[in-house]
Amino acid sequence: MSKPKLLIVEDDEGLCSQYRWAFPGCDLVITHARPQALAAAQKERPSVAIIDLGLPPDPDGVTEGFATLEALVRQVPNMKVIVATSHGDRMHALRAIGSGAYDFCEKPMDIDLLRTIIDRAVRLHELEDENRRLAEAPAPSPIKRIITASDAMLKVCRTIERLATTNVSVLLLGESGTGKEALARAVHELGPRAKQPFIAINCGAIPENLLESELFGYERGAFTGAVKQTIGKIEAANKGTLFLDEIGDLPHQLQVKLLRFLQEQVIERIGGRQTIPVDVRIVSATNMMLEEQVGEGRFRNDLFYRLNSVTVRIPPLRDRPGDAMLLARYFLSRFNREFGRNIRGFTEEAISAISGHAWPGNVRELENRMKRAVVMADARLIDAADLELAPGATDPHGLDLRAARLRAEREVLQKALARSNGTLATAAKLLGISRPTLYTLMEAHGVAHAPGDASDAAAGQAVSHSTNTG
Ligand SMILES: Nc1ncnc2c1ncn2[C@@H]1O[C@H](COP(=O)(O)OP(=O)(O)OP(=O)(O)O)[C@@H](O)[C@H]1O
Ligand SMILES: [Mg+2]
Repeated sequence: MSKPKLLIVEDDEGLCSQYRWAFPGCDLVITHARPQALAAAQKERPSVAIIDLGLPPDPDGVTEGFATLEALVRQVPNMKVIVATSHGDRMHALRAIGSGAYDFCEKPMDIDLLRTIIDRAVRLHELEDENRRLAEAPAPSPIKRIITASDAMLKVCRTIERLATTNVSVLLLGESGTGKEALARAVHELGPRAKQPFIAINCGAIPENLLESELFGYERGAFTGAVKQTIGKIEAANKGTLFLDEIGDLPHQLQVKLLRFLQEQVIERIGGRQTIPVDVRIVSATNMMLEEQVGEGRFRNDLFYRLNSVTVRIPPLRDRPGDAMLLARYFLSRFNREFGRNIRGFTEEAISAISGHAWPGNVRELENRMKRAVVMADARLIDAADLELAPGATDPHGLDLRAARLRAEREVLQKALARSNGTLATAAKLLGISRPTLYTLMEAHGVAHAPGDASDAAAGQAVSHSTNTG
């Protein structure tokens, strides 16, 4: 990891050397006045800046300091600016926060406190950067509707692409929600039949006695209630693709009929005498161990071989490293658009919960949790609670250092707020951090505060609070 870049805007040489000495872990860019600071910010793109309010030509006032702050915030909006204020100067501190400063620190500097503020600022900057970068990253997958960056899944996509141009029967095997239907559609859309119909039928969802007429259609009067001639799904898919979903649920009697159709490529409607030629490409899918069913005699061997010229095994989401987060961001931007919301990203806790969850319902589960979270979240960032994921459940052994640190931070934060009766100034003092830092922490953890402090309203304008109690 490279050192975080820290921009200093300070006219006092003595203080500059103190900074140099105090932050050996940072890459310092030292400037003494506004023009130089703006040029350096543009060129170096530091993650954090510390600026003195008393800058020349107004070293004893604050006009130049505020002008510098405002120009920096405008020019590099994602940089976190910390303002050095005179001791006890609350008014200017709050005004600075209102003008877009991330935090303030009183002179004479308490270096330990400043270090904590800078550490947090750097982390927040990284997190926002990462959010932005991933939100802008194009989907690397070759199939439009499939978002993935995992090698195993990319391999599946390439196989699907190749198979699409052929006419072979494809059997998709995968747990529920892994994208079987999405891939079946891709087989159709990337092939020569794309302009013809794609017809899907779920063999597990239709009662056995109706399934036959759904598949093969019927003539008028074929049975009670058959008031008019009706085309079945197979016939409707003529020249296109027929997607047989949950093929493992196909009853035995229909397995025989389907096999006959696949061998002879003709059907007869129920109650009909005429054989009708049908040309369809077959894609089938199941989340069961079809081979085992064949072994146990529950699924016909000959049908199995007909359906499965090629088997494509779709890996579960838990075996696609990094994909859960990639998909979460994709769904975030999609649902932001769909629901007219403007949620900017995820808290660190949400990120570790998403990466740590086993996703038994795969992409479908993630999609549903994200939809709910985007609708329900009331902060700018989605929290683990919005996703209804337990933050602690990510690692049963509690050995994930980052998660443990976040857990501890949240606990201490809640204790301090409880002990201070919701008075933020007291809570900040108990925690040894500044008030804006406390706001950021509360927001990151989705912790609400019971209003007990009159001056909170002023600072609250700059930092929006979460009212999420999860
Ligand atoms: N890699 C992916 N990128 C983007 N969206 C995806 C991806 N995989 C699945 N989806 C979406 O997730 C949802 C579930 O996918 P799909 O219906 O294809 O899964 P399935 O395996 O057929 O699930 P089930 O077994 O529950 O029927 C759909 O809305 C689909 O568009
Ligand atoms: Mg499906």
